[in-house]
Amino acid sequence: MTPLNNPCYIKIPGDKSITHRALLLSLLTNQENCIIENYANSLDCQTTLNCLNQLGVKFKQTPNKLIINSPFVRYMQIASMTIDAQNSGTTLRLLTGLLAWHDTQFIFQGDNSLNKRPMHRLCEPLKLMGCDFEYLDQSGYPPFKIKGGNLKGIKYQIDVASAQVQSALLLAGLNARGHTIVSVPNLVRTHTSKMFQALNIYQRNFNSQICGVKYLEKPIMPYNMSVPGDLSSAAYFLVLAAITPGLHLILNNININPGRTLITNALIKMEANIKLINHKIINFEEVCDIEIKGGARLKPFNIDYKNIATGIDEIAIIALLMAMADGISYVKDANELMYKESNRLALIIKNFKNCGININAYPDGFSIKGSPQILGDSLWETHNDHRLAMTGLIASCISKRPIKVDNIKCIDISYPQFLMTLKQVGNTYSFDNEIFD
Ligand code: S3P
Repeated sequence: MTPLNNPCYIKIPGDKSITHRALLLSLLTNQENCIIENYANSLDCQTTLNCLNQLGVKFKQTPNKLIINSPFVRYMQIASMTIDAQNSGTTLRLLTGLLAWHDTQFIFQGDNSLNKRPMHRLCEPLKLMGCDFEYLDQSGYPPFKIKGGNLKGIKYQIDVASAQVQSALLLAGLNARGHTIVSVPNLVRTHTSKMFQALNIYQRNFNSQICGVKYLEKPIMPYNMSVPGDLSSAAYFLVLAAITPGLHLILNNININPGRTLITNALIKMEANIKLINHKIINFEEVCDIEIKGGARLKPFNIDYKNIATGIDEIAIIALLMAMADGISYVKDANELMYKESNRLALIIKNFKNCGININAYPDGFSIKGSPQILGDSLWETHNDHRLAMTGLIASCISKRPIKVDNIKCIDISYPQFLMTLKQVGNTYSFDNEIFD
């Protein structure tokens, strides 16, 4: 294994969660151009854009810039329609909150995976706000019918730590009588609230988990926003670097919202050779550059209810890091992983076992006894889940024998440039297990 070109600078695409929100909040402006630069060009964000287009929002798209022009959602003349959110939970949940402003009936549906994801957590509070609501197939899951309009503010404690549900209720609350105050049981990503701050939308942050909004009297001013790099996408390369002796990567302009930093906290606690430098605040979001070098001996790390929500999309790749650590790491309170794009909890356990990692399953998590080498020689099942596919490919870079990932197309859902960047890193470094044949 020889480093060919160190350090290697890699460009991480714009953040997916921030891009969804930057697109959706254009519905709060009125017929003016909003500019979104460095947006995530993932399939999920394209789905949000397609849904907005279906609602009559106009846009111009270049590879690095989107110009969106939307009527204020309150003034929109919209007929009943079916919104297809495909694989994207963020599109479905946040748009449900925004379209609840209207007393028009909408049907929301998704693909096979999204239609298996729980919706009670969103629909119950929306009903309390005054929405009519009906499941069309299986109770608790999409497709569902919703009709809002005459909303009233509520004070609501969500019982799962979900940024999507909190954001959806806050968006609905912008058209509700009185105040809408929504709390989550643990810290989650706070992009919606940061964006409200940046766009001068009234909100009251009681603390980082409780946020309140009130009726938005008039459209907001148009905005120009540059989306910072996505820490969830960066995670795959941070882990690859941490577990590859001699590899040295630099990632610039990465968003480190405190509701997302389990991956960097894990790397720091595990004593990886990582530095977060050049911290800046842009549009109320913290960004920094990250430098990481492989070769450090990694300590074990534990995840439980206190921190899991801050890395909910990164548990698979963090688990791979645990597999290379010196000792036993524990992941507890990970039930939410069952309700993601796949049953990620079951698939992490199955794939890790199959490639020879010493993993023990518990009803709500697992433990992993690290070892210096992953055997491989296995098939990695993704069930179309992009985050599992990327984790499988990173595992295959370092395994002794090949790991075959059953579907890599699904990676486009969040990170279409992933393979190109992996190749770039591969060109600067030769891995034991050549995956670029
Ligand atoms: C997201 C919130 C998280 C995360 C998803 C994006 C968001 O979902 O898993 O990928 O943009 O708000 P939950 O809110 O369901 O945990």
